[in-house]
Amino acid sequence: MELVGDLTRELPYWTIRDGAVVLRDGSYRLGFDVTLPGTEVWDAAQLAACNERLRILIGTAVPEGECLRMLLEIHPDYTDLLRAYADVCRSPHAVVRNLHGRRVSALTEAQASGRLVNSRLIFDLSYHPERPPRRGWWRPVDGATYRRHLAELGILRDVMVGHCERCGFRARPLDGGALLDAVWRFFNPGRKRFCPPPAVPAEDQAFEIPRRVLNAWPFFGRRSVRTAVARSDLYRRWDFLWLDGHAHAVVAMDTLPDRPTMPNMLGPLQTLPGAYWLIIEAWNDPRSDQIKRLELKSRLSRQAVLAQDGGDSNARAVDRQVAEALDVLQRTSERVMRVGVAVVLQESSGEAVQAAARRALDAFHQIPGVDARIESVALRRQFVQLAPFSGMPNERLMRMLTSNAADFVPCHALWRGSARPVCPLFTRRDSLVPLDPFDPRLPSWNAIVIGESGGGKTHFAIAWLSHLLALDPVVLIVDKGGAYKSFCSVYDAQYVHIDPASGIAVNPFDLLPGEIEPDHAHLGLLKSLIALMVVEPGGAVGRQEMAVLESAIRQTYARAAGGPVFLHDLVRTLRTFEQVGAHEAGPEEWALARGIARRLEVWVDEGLYARLLDRPSTVDLSASVVCLDTEGLSEHYPDLVPIAALLANHLIYRRIRADDGRLKYVVSDETWAALLNRVAAESLVGMFRRFRKFGAGIMAISQRAEDFESEYARGILENAPLKVLTRAADADRVAPLLDLNDQHRALWKSLTQRRGEFSEALVIVDFLEGREGGVVVVRDIPEDYFIATTTAEERVRRDQLAAELGPWPAIRHLADSRRATCSRTG
Ligand SMILES: Nc1ncnc2c1ncn2[C@@H]1O[C@H](COP(=O)(O)OP(=O)(O)O)[C@@H](O)[C@H]1O
Ligand SMILES: [Mg+2]
Repeated sequence: MELVGDLTRELPYWTIRDGAVVLRDGSYRLGFDVTLPGTEVWDAAQLAACNERLRILIGTAVPEGECLRMLLEIHPDYTDLLRAYADVCRSPHAVVRNLHGRRVSALTEAQASGRLVNSRLIFDLSYHPERPPRRGWWRPVDGATYRRHLAELGILRDVMVGHCERCGFRARPLDGGALLDAVWRFFNPGRKRFCPPPAVPAEDQAFEIPRRVLNAWPFFGRRSVRTAVARSDLYRRWDFLWLDGHAHAVVAMDTLPDRPTMPNMLGPLQTLPGAYWLIIEAWNDPRSDQIKRLELKSRLSRQAVLAQDGGDSNARAVDRQVAEALDVLQRTSERVMRVGVAVVLQESSGEAVQAAARRALDAFHQIPGVDARIESVALRRQFVQLAPFSGMPNERLMRMLTSNAADFVPCHALWRGSARPVCPLFTRRDSLVPLDPFDPRLPSWNAIVIGESGGGKTHFAIAWLSHLLALDPVVLIVDKGGAYKSFCSVYDAQYVHIDPASGIAVNPFDLLPGEIEPDHAHLGLLKSLIALMVVEPGGAVGRQEMAVLESAIRQTYARAAGGPVFLHDLVRTLRTFEQVGAHEAGPEEWALARGIARRLEVWVDEGLYARLLDRPSTVDLSASVVCLDTEGLSEHYPDLVPIAALLANHLIYRRIRADDGRLKYVVSDETWAALLNRVAAESLVGMFRRFRKFGAGIMAISQRAEDFESEYARGILENAPLKVLTRAADADRVAPLLDLNDQHRALWKSLTQRRGEFSEALVIVDFLEGREGGVVVVRDIPEDYFIATTTAEERVRRDQLAAELGPWPAIRHLADSRRATCSRTG
C-alpha cells in the first residue's frame, strides 16, 4: 500500500467557534443533530405529507447558493443506552439482579462484536457571507462583521429547527464539541469505538506555523481542529483507503432514477450491513442562474430538433423535458437542485470493504434507473470532500427539482421507543428499542396483547415482566394455564391455584386493616359476586333484589361491628331481614331476601364451594410477585369460572390499594374467559379505568380481538394506550377496531417467529402527543427463554431439572448447555 501521509493539510477546517465550523475559505457550517420519528408505521399519506414539508425545507431553510448536507452515520455504539439500562435495576432480589446483569452483559457483548446497529443523522448547512470573487484562504474579519455573521447564523439555525419540527423531525443545533466530534468520528472509525472525542482546541488558531518550521521543531506544534481530527496516516490502494485500522471505500450515485421518484428513495441504502456513512447533499443554486441555464439548454435542444428536420428521438425527448422543467419553475415554487448521494464504507479489511462496496452498488441498483460508481481515481478526493462540514461538494452532483430532491432525504427511521430503557427489545434491523411500561408520556399504563394461539403472547408478557422486575414493582398475574409457574418459582412468587379441591379459601368479605365497612368498589364487588351465585342460568337479578342485597350486606357489617364477616353471616341477615335503605322492609322485601338466602344455601357451611368462599382466608397475598391461576377450573367447575375471575379481581384490588409507594403491574392472561361474563368483564374494565389512580398498570392478553369488541369490554381498548399485536389470521378484520392504517396492517401480517429463537410483535403506543410504534423482536437471553417457554418437551425437561436442582439452578443449567451448543455449532 502506498503511504499518502497525513491528512491534516488537506482538511478544509480552520476553526470551530460559537457553534459553527469556520472553513479556510471564510465560510461557515452549522450542524444539527436530527432525530426522526419511527417512520416504519407511517402510511403512504403520512410519508407524502412529510415529503411535501421536506420540499419546503430544502427550498426555504437552505438559502439560495447554500448547501444542505445530510449525513446518516450507521454505527454499533449504544454505550449511553446500555449504561442507563444497567442503572435501571433497583430490585433487592438476588435472582432479579443476577438476571439483569446477564442481560446487560449479553447486550454489551453484542455491541462489542458489532452486532447492534445504531444510527445518527446530522444536517450540515453552509453559510457563505458575501463572497468576493476568489478570496483564497481565511482572513480575519473585524468584530462588527463577525457579529453580523453570528446573527445571520442564529437566524439560519432557528429557521432550520422550525422547518424540521414541521416535518416531524427534532433538530438540535450542535455545539462546538459536537461539531468536532462528528468530524473526528468520520476520520477515526477505530478510535471512535473506544476513545472519547478530543476537546475543541483553544480559541486562537489564527496563526498556524508553516509546515517547514514544524517539521524541524515539532514542539512548536499547537493543536488545531485539523490536527485534532486527523490522527492517523492515510494509505491507499487502488480501490480502498486505509485509515485508523479501517479500510474505506466510497460508492457514489452517478445516474439519476428514470422514473418518478417516491418518498424515501434511498431506503435500500439505509439497511446495508456494517458501519458506514450515507451522505446526501442538495445545493440550492440561485434561481436566476437555474432559469438561464435551462433557457440556454432549451434553445440548444430546439435548434437540434429544427436542424435535423424534426430531430432524432433523443433530441425530441430532451427538448420536451427541458420545456416542462422550465414551465414548472416559472409556475411553481419548485427549484433546481444539484444533488449528490454517496456511501462511505468503513470495514476492518480490504476484502470486507470491497464486499461492502459491491453491496452498496447493488443497493443503488435497486432504485429504478439509478447507477453508481465505486470510486477509484477520485477516491481520496471524494473521501475528504464527503467529510462532515467539509464545505466541498461531492464530485458527482446531478440536477433535479426540489420535490425529487426531497425524496432523497433519508427518512427511513426505526422507532426509538422510550427515554428510560426498562425493556430493551430489538428492531428487525438489530437496533435497540427501549420500552418503558411507565413512560411519563403515556396517559395510562395499561396494555392489551392480541394474537393467535402460539404467537408468543405469553412469552412477550413474561419477557416484559422479567424486565419490569428490575424496578421492584408489585406484580400480580392472573392465568388459567400454568404458563407462569416457572416464572413464579424462579422469582419466589406466591402461586395460588384457585380451585375448591386444592383446599384454599378466599373470604371476599375480608376488610383491609383499619376498615369497618367495605368501600364503594368492594361493595360493588360483593354485590356482583353474590348476584353471580344466585342468578339462574339465562336469568338476571332484578333491581329490587340488588337493593335488598346491598342493605343486607351493610347490615351484616354493622352487626359484626368490626369483627370478621362471612357469607353465612350474610345469609343469616337475609333470613331476618328488616330494613331497606332508610325505611322498614315490607313483606315483599322479606320475600325477596328469603329467596336470595335460599339460593345462597348451596354456597355456605358445608358445600364444596363453601370451602372456597365461606371460611377464613388461607391466602395472604403479600409477596412481591403473586400469581392466581385458575387452571382446570373451566373443565371441572364451569359455574365457578366467573366467580373465580371476580375473586381474583377482588384480591388484586385489595393488593393494589393496600400497598403504597411501589409500582404495581397486573397481567391478565387468557382474558377471554373473564370477558365471557358480563359482570366479570365489567370488573376488569373497571381496572382499566381506575388503575392509574393507584399507580398501577394492567396488561390484558387475549387470542381474539373480538373479545374486546363487545360493548362492555370496549372500555378496555379505550384505556389501553399500549397495544402489542402478535401473529394473527384476522388482522384485516380487526384493523378498524384498533384504528390501524394500511402500513400497520401490512406489518402485522408480516410478523414472523422462530420458536426457540425469536418472535416478532407489532407494538403500537398511543402517547399523549401521538401514536408511535414499530415491529419489535423479542430475542431473550437463554435464561429468560427457559423461564418463559411453553413448549411441552422443554417444560417437561425444565420441571424435571427444577425438581432435582431447584428452579433457578435448573434454568442456569439449561441456559449454559444451550450456550455451549450454540458456540459449538457457531
Ligand atoms: N420471543 C420468543 N423467542 C423464542 N421462542 C418464542 C418466543 N415467543 C414465543 N416463542 C415460542 O412460541 C411458543 C408459544 O408461545 P406462547 O407465548 O405460549 O404463545 P401464546 O401465548 O400466544 O399462545 C413458545 O413456547 C416458544 O417456544
Ligand atoms: Mg399464552
